[in-house]
Amino acid sequence: MPRSRTQFVCQQCGYASPRALGHCPNCGSWNSMVEQMVLPASKAGAAAGTSPSSRPRRLREIQGDPEDRLVLPIPEFARALGGGIVPGSLILVGGDPGIGKSTLLLQAGLLLARQTGRVLYVSGEESEKQIKLRALRLKASAGDLPEDLFLVTETSLEAILRDVEEVSPRVLIVDSIQTAYRPELTSAAGSISQVRECAARLQALAKSSGIAIFLIGHVTKEGTLAGPRVLEHIVDTVLYLEGDRFQSYRLLRSVKNRFGPTSEVGVFEMRSDGMAEVPNPSEAFLAERVIDAPGSAIAVTMEGTRPLLVEMQGLTSAAAFGNPRRTANGVDLYRLLLVAAVLSRRVGLKLGEQDIFVNVVGGLHVSEPAGDLAMAVAIASSIRDRPVATDLAMFGEVGLSGELRATSQVAARVREAAQLGFRRVLLPRLVRGGELFPSGIQTIEARSVREAIDLALLGNR
Ligand code: TYD
Ligand code: MG
Repeated sequence: MPRSRTQFVCQQCGYASPRALGHCPNCGSWNSMVEQMVLPASKAGAAAGTSPSSRPRRLREIQGDPEDRLVLPIPEFARALGGGIVPGSLILVGGDPGIGKSTLLLQAGLLLARQTGRVLYVSGEESEKQIKLRALRLKASAGDLPEDLFLVTETSLEAILRDVEEVSPRVLIVDSIQTAYRPELTSAAGSISQVRECAARLQALAKSSGIAIFLIGHVTKEGTLAGPRVLEHIVDTVLYLEGDRFQSYRLLRSVKNRFGPTSEVGVFEMRSDGMAEVPNPSEAFLAERVIDAPGSAIAVTMEGTRPLLVEMQGLTSAAAFGNPRRTANGVDLYRLLLVAAVLSRRVGLKLGEQDIFVNVVGGLHVSEPAGDLAMAVAIASSIRDRPVATDLAMFGEVGLSGELRATSQVAARVREAAQLGFRRVLLPRLVRGGELFPSGIQTIEARSVREAIDLALLGNR
């Protein structure tokens, strides 16, 4: 059999060369040449396509039912996937090293093997013994070791495909895609070429066999998965496991999903016996709240379709020398700068010589502008040294003129606040629609940040 050929292709302009070049002679980009496999014309179609026999068929004759999903007995995980696991789908689970990817997927593997069918766990990172030890550690939360979980340590893709044929699992877990390699490529395992070619081959396997495949991927230093997002468009679903390494909460967030909504999140807590689900995260995030302390406000934020209540803390303190500093933890620095500017110019707070710190408790990152109001109130509460009323939750985007701007999903936010026992919600003026709020909670509308701060802080009037 002739050895498969490879070539180096510029990712900017498509120029191909048989040798590795640091600089594309065609378009002049640097470091843009990536090794790719050259397939004979007849095979090229099969590798790129998803099914070997592709002929036009009537849509109504094609099989497929939304109920076909495999049940994943971890509801928070299933939520991030938009339901169960779609057979034949390729799911990428990315995250920083040590965040708990292997733990979560081994746990899922244990449960799937018991309830759904055979699972093959391929590890290129740890020895069989290490994985066995981890499985024993997880036993407390996942039950006894099931019959149908198979384990192999392997990095060669050809060998992995042989193992799949031997075991014929319904679910395959590859830990991690960066350790898998195809010997035809001269590039090292973990390089863009290897990761892309391996993922493409596994995608073809998933589509032709109906096996659901989970790929674990490490996030590179630049914060992307294995180079410039090469994997994200090959796979069907991309989940990121996020969280602060020093805090125990972990968020499993979907950023792409061909079979469900995106930006759904599942919330977990890393315990000594694995990842435990947090079915009511708002309650967990507010557990350590100190009542009547200045500099703390409760924001109602949305993660996908799920409302979450988080504590936003603000601290101002006289700057020692030079430029005052602004430090954001859990919010974007840009939004903090904007809110601080509005507070000085439109509300008249003297923030010019103050350091400002903002922190979201629990390791959550609030990226939506609806968190602005709580940030503004927390900072104002700190500088005025007055606490926020304890029965009050709030949300709203702050505009440059100091106005409060409407946000989406008002009813869901108010409902979540009511469920957690808050009696009042401070929000932007509503455009009257058919919004239904639960009884037992009062909505207070404010037009501006200034008005909202006056309403929120105790002892102001
Ligand atoms: P791991 O799943 O190996 O992370 P990843 O695969 O994303 O690199 O998890 C590593 C961390 O999790 C490690 O610091 C130990 C901790 N851990 C627990 O706290 N509890 C557990 O039950 C397990 C298995 C690990
Ligand atoms: Mg791991």
